[in-house]
Amino acid sequence: MLTPYECRCGRSYAPAADRWRCDCGGLLDLPLAAVAWPPRAGTSSIWRYLDAGDLPWREITLGEGGTPLVEEDGGLHLKVEFASPTGSFKDRGAVVLVALARALGAARLIADSSGNAGTAVAAYAARAGVAAEIFVPAGTSEKKLLQIRGHGAEVTVVEGSREDTAAAAVARVEQSGAFYASHVYNPYFHEGTKTYALEIFEQLGGAVPATLVLPAGNGTLVLGAHRGFAELRAAALIDRVPRIVAVQAERCAPLAAAWAAGLDEPGPVRPGRTLAEGIAIADPARGSRILAAVRDTGGAFVTVGEDEIAAASAALAARGLWVEPTGAVSYAAVRRLRGAESPLLTGGPVVAPLCGSGLKASL
Ligand SMILES: Cc1ncc(COP(=O)(O)O)c(C=O)c1O
Ligand SMILES: [Zn+2]
Repeated sequence: MLTPYECRCGRSYAPAADRWRCDCGGLLDLPLAAVAWPPRAGTSSIWRYLDAGDLPWREITLGEGGTPLVEEDGGLHLKVEFASPTGSFKDRGAVVLVALARALGAARLIADSSGNAGTAVAAYAARAGVAAEIFVPAGTSEKKLLQIRGHGAEVTVVEGSREDTAAAAVARVEQSGAFYASHVYNPYFHEGTKTYALEIFEQLGGAVPATLVLPAGNGTLVLGAHRGFAELRAAALIDRVPRIVAVQAERCAPLAAAWAAGLDEPGPVRPGRTLAEGIAIADPARGSRILAAVRDTGGAFVTVGEDEIAAASAALAARGLWVEPTGAVSYAAVRRLRGAESPLLTGGPVVAPLCGSGLKASL
């Protein structure tokens, strides 16, 4: 049995290969799941935390999840998400989404991505025997394109913005009837990314971090991490959730701008070009949910500039950690908040992810 999608208009839908939004046009969500604790033994992957139901994960898993938590000075823990099978945290969500596509009998899937989600979807689609077409914006790092093509997916480069890329993918989905393996629209992706939270809870021996510093573009990690801790709270395994500090690039910061203005919904911004290509999302579809999640935790939004991203990358490299520029933004935010002696980092452990590998893109 697969958990049905829900829309805020009250409709619900059994997952189907051609269903990616509500008939009202609204976004689909999933209800919080009941957390089973302790996690299942026998695997260190994300599947130790998930009730897989009818998802055929065993045939396609690459052992995603189980990434190292490296302790640095001052109670900071860096979660080495770039040690994931395809080199980014997107594997957590992509494996669930592709397992869903397979369970629904999809022969073909389509995804749009700034690079890493598309790579992850392409890799798992290859294992699942599902044909994949990945739409990326022009300017996506060459190594990400090589990686996607290497997994046998067709790559369509869209001359335009990340939003134009999504629109082109949707048009192809509508015309072809392929499964839309969207990390933005399909809430099963967050079932995967929520394991980021469950894994940290386990790795810290049942302690709740004071703060999670997380990059935010389309918010798959923010929403997933929030969901994971919300499920632990609902199961009375914890009595408070960590504050989430969500990080955007100064040059493309619709959520941080909405936050600063006290709005519940972001307005689109005209983005500048940023080193943080993975979070350069001018009009995030789940924007109001991301803002609400951060608010629920008592967190905040922070922006970082290009120099700070570059300096954070270099500082990480000097500590043995080779990340792509987008992968350095959470650490850049930690450095900025430390410099300002921000109360957002007080009260216990701080966890920041290093989301993508420097082997994919570097300065
Ligand atoms: C390396 C890296 N970090 C962070 C993100 C941000 O993820 P999201 O857009 O889900 O917020 C991405 C997205 O592609 C990414 O590739
Ligand atoms: Zn609806």
